[in-house]
Amino acid sequence: MSATEQISIRVEPTKQSRLSQVDFNNLKFGQIMSDHMLVANYDKGQWTDVAIVPYGDLTLSPSMSALHYGQAIFEGIKGYKFADGTVSIFRPDKNWERFNKSADRLQMPEVPEAIFMDGLKKLLDVDRNWIPSIEGTALYIRPFMFATEAALGVHPSVSYKFIIITCPVGAYYSKPISLKVETHYTRAAEGGVGFSKNAGNYALSLYPTQLANNEGYDQIMWTDANEHKYIEEAGTANLIFRIGDTIITPHGDTILHGVTRRTIMELASEWGYKAEQRKVSVQELIEGIKAGTVTEAFAAGTAATITHIDRIGFEGEDYTLPPVEGREFSLKVLAYLNDLRYGKSEDTHGWNLIVK
Ligand code: COI
Repeated sequence: MSATEQISIRVEPTKQSRLSQVDFNNLKFGQIMSDHMLVANYDKGQWTDVAIVPYGDLTLSPSMSALHYGQAIFEGIKGYKFADGTVSIFRPDKNWERFNKSADRLQMPEVPEAIFMDGLKKLLDVDRNWIPSIEGTALYIRPFMFATEAALGVHPSVSYKFIIITCPVGAYYSKPISLKVETHYTRAAEGGVGFSKNAGNYALSLYPTQLANNEGYDQIMWTDANEHKYIEEAGTANLIFRIGDTIITPHGDTILHGVTRRTIMELASEWGYKAEQRKVSVQELIEGIKAGTVTEAFAAGTAATITHIDRIGFEGEDYTLPPVEGREFSLKVLAYLNDLRYGKSEDTHGWNLIVK
């Protein structure tokens, strides 16, 4: 199938919706999955059996290679509902592009537009009643792919499953977070898989994150593998700082190129700030906090949206960021994106994909 070819997506509706069990006023992140999921199988060079089916367990071989050698990638996207019921997905084309970059690095097949993008739209159409509309909520969309070949030799699998599941969510972080600068453990090295959204990048974060939690921090701030001198990203999101009138985010192939990060940097330059993607040293950050020039710091991601950072721990010392109320840039971005995503303002960039 070529990248642009049309395919028919079979729909098997659930016989028993679970929608009435959901308390939309009290949504936790990632706990309750919507009624349906999209499933597509890849075998020996062909995508087949693309279908939207009731959400449920899968039957898989214990020798399936994803479980042993980690060919597993994913994305995070959000869908929104406007007050008039319109359903919109925020920049999913950028996630589709990144997904296929991750797939390429892990020797996995490309997922064509007709499955990823058309499947996504159709799934949200089928489960449109699951999309919450209260501000601060969204339908979290999790496309993922994993290797299913039942074989223990180390080689790229010949078969894969691509699945999209969704769940109505509230905030991932409900308040500002504290980060510990990680100066021992490493997330990614040059030439590695840091830019890809593969499952292993999250598995390796769990141990150092637990150590940071034990010391009273919510998350870690990864630094570079060579010197632990330059800031990379947080465990669950990218990082953005305001230093003077410049909006700065770490750059390079060892970090994930987030869609939220990209959106914020685009807005920053459009609004006349200096917007820089470059190396940011821990020293620059700490000196800036001490001197009062670092006025804003936040995590940016699909799940995290914009989560303010209130405290940074480095080598046993804590550095406190200015109060959230005065954070002009991040509050402005948050308000702008909220208005756009819930259809309250004009979509001048064409970032909302409307589901017909
Ligand atoms: C997302 O922001 O969508 C992610 O995939 C981060 C994940 C750790 C929840």
